[in-house]
Amino acid sequence: MKALMFLGSRRASSPPQPSRLGERICTFLSIHVGERFEIQIIDPLDYQPTNIFKPTFAYNQTSKPHQLGHLEHLINEADAYVMVSPEYNHSMSPALADLLNQFPSSAFSFKPSLIATYSSGQWGGTCAAVGMRTFLSELGCLPVSAMLHFPSADHVFAPDGKLTQHQDPEQWEHYARRGVDQLYWWATAAALQRQADDPFQLSPAFTRTPAARNAPEA
Ligand SMILES: Cc1cc2nc3c(=O)[nH]c(=O)nc-3n(C[C@H](O)[C@H](O)[C@H](O)COP(=O)(O)O)c2cc1C
Repeated sequence: MKALMFLGSRRASSPPQPSRLGERICTFLSIHVGERFEIQIIDPLDYQPTNIFKPTFAYNQTSKPHQLGHLEHLINEADAYVMVSPEYNHSMSPALADLLNQFPSSAFSFKPSLIATYSSGQWGGTCAAVGMRTFLSELGCLPVSAMLHFPSADHVFAPDGKLTQHQDPEQWEHYARRGVDQLYWWATAAALQRQADDPFQLSPAFTRTPAARNAPEA
């Protein structure tokens, strides 16, 4: 099983932290997700989408930017997604939304996702997570019911991603496992069913206009 873990921050400045808190969360989650999946971290700093918004489905196959085309391939090949987002103004990270918006929902659909949010504040990104459920459902990678939230993440994790001195590793492992195991269960089930019955035969991706999915006119 392959999973892509999206690091949802492209903040390259301080304050409050010297580097992105999201790096610490991804380091911690990699250990637990890595027990179940072959994982690859996708960092938005490695991708420079064009200034003018042009998603991959707006190009023809030959003119698609190589880097975005490659990421689209990875998304298609993955069995599951871990969406790691900071909370910015009680919303999901615009960097994460911007990166995901570059790709067609058919690349993500019929596969599960796990929402992991964090913040330096006390809510751990729960406000952001509410909107992420809607976003990811529309993208077709339905979020599992368990969500992982990391409040005061700058106190829970050291800059190297390890838990700080007063944290109980067993409790955090137990917490992370619930989400990761749900993701694994759904990813395995979906992979078997995708093989048995091509979902795009049943529910084809639209190719011209989303209006293809509209209700009949009254
Ligand atoms: C524009 C902006 C908005 C923020 N909004 C919130 C917020 O609504 N709730 C919260 O708990 N923290 C908020 N924070 C604090 C972030 O949790 C903190 O900056 C964190 O380090 C961001 O993650 P990152 O370092 O991986 O980018 C905000 C930070 C920024 C830069």
